[in-house]
Amino acid sequence: MSDSVTIIDNRTGKQIECPVLTGKYGAPVIDTSRLYKELGVFTLDPGFGTTASCKSAITYLDGDEGILLHRGYPIEQLAEKSTYTELCYLLLNGELPDQNQMADFEHDLKMHSMTHEHLSRFYNGYRYDAHPMSIMSGVFAAIASYYHDATDIRNPEHRLMTAKRVIGKIPNVAAKCYRHASGLPFVYPDNSRDYVENFMYMMFSWPSEEYKPSPVALRALDLLFILHADHEQNASTSTVRLAASAEANPFACVAAGICTLWGKAHGGANEAVINMLTEIERPENIPKYIARAKDKDDPFRLMGFGHRVYKNYDPRARIIQQAVYDLMDEMNLNQPMFEIAMELEKIALNDEYFIERKLYPNVDFYSGLIYQALRIPTEMFTVMFAMARSAGWIAQWMELMEDPDFRIGRPRQLYTGQEKRDYVQIKDR
Ligand code: CMC
Repeated sequence: MSDSVTIIDNRTGKQIECPVLTGKYGAPVIDTSRLYKELGVFTLDPGFGTTASCKSAITYLDGDEGILLHRGYPIEQLAEKSTYTELCYLLLNGELPDQNQMADFEHDLKMHSMTHEHLSRFYNGYRYDAHPMSIMSGVFAAIASYYHDATDIRNPEHRLMTAKRVIGKIPNVAAKCYRHASGLPFVYPDNSRDYVENFMYMMFSWPSEEYKPSPVALRALDLLFILHADHEQNASTSTVRLAASAEANPFACVAAGICTLWGKAHGGANEAVINMLTEIERPENIPKYIARAKDKDDPFRLMGFGHRVYKNYDPRARIIQQAVYDLMDEMNLNQPMFEIAMELEKIALNDEYFIERKLYPNVDFYSGLIYQALRIPTEMFTVMFAMARSAGWIAQWMELMEDPDFRIGRPRQLYTGQEKRDYVQIKDR
């Protein structure tokens, strides 16, 4: 039996044999790239439910089994034993670093922790109550202007340098979004501190006082960063890749990813979960919200539930849920809200509607409880996600740039509009 699928056009009797490609894991894919040339047809797959947009060696997830691997390493092991910056190195380079490589990498990230002084003025263009994701996307796109001609995206060294710049600068940009909204002075990075600590320092320190975050808080934030670092071809990553395929400036590509992540069906869900739990207020109110989520005439969905790929418990949600338990006594976690979340999960997981549709808690369901305990305001939650995901975006950008099949992304369509017709002057209409 050959590794191919034959597609027969029953209208004409013409047929084409499409190769079936097998990856390391996951469903094999049918290579339909010759379909239009040979049969004159396109494929239609709204929401890309069955379309592989690229080959990638970075992240693998098995939605039925609830498995997530980065460069082959299970997320559970990375969450327990690794650090966010080590994972960044892994995503960019494909292998775990030795001690010297790690020290060099961390040093390089620190060398890129500053942003141009003029960039700080961009924030003043935003109202005090602007959503930080709006600020973050705008400011990040603006960084492109500082590296417009200086970055040769065809040069591997420039690409790696760009990746380090993106990961190095994003905590600085993110912290300033918060400081702007709060009317607090911007804080320069302190490179004697590690990556996550430096972010907390830029967020929460006062110029007039010494700042010492708790090691428990730092580890909790590092864990959340690990869990959000990459997730293969999700909406924001696909946006980054599509923008990159047009050879757009990499900072602009990341800004495009930030905008997409903001959507409440994607990264914006972490903010929406806390708003939902606040609105639910008491466990007695849960059945009303479950009923609303099931009602087809009500746009309300259970935020933090469901996933395009996971038809099983999201492994990241499981790790965060456990972390919430572990941190309950050490951090100032909102216990009543956690109890509502647990009860909501329990009721949903026993409800026929959710069982039938395989709707489980996703990464966003519990993450907000930890962000809250870290004193991160709700509207900053998606900024936190974006900061962590920048590593995945830029690793995927690098991979695309090195792809021998590189060409501009240009989906096709099924046109359903008007037939060709003649223009009529306005006075004659
Ligand atoms: N609450 C109630 N019903 C739901 C939910 C939900 N959260 N999610 C899916 N459904 C229903 C949906 O109405 C549909 O029902 P039916 O078959 O009767 O029409 C069925 O489940 C399949 O849903 P779908 O919309 O076809 O699934 P999708 O793969 O297109 O959407 C999703 C995935 C994540 C956008 C969706 O589950 C959702 O909106 N969840 C809430 C938002 C959320 O938590 N997003 C974070 C995702 S994980 C992190 C990230 O990507 O950033």
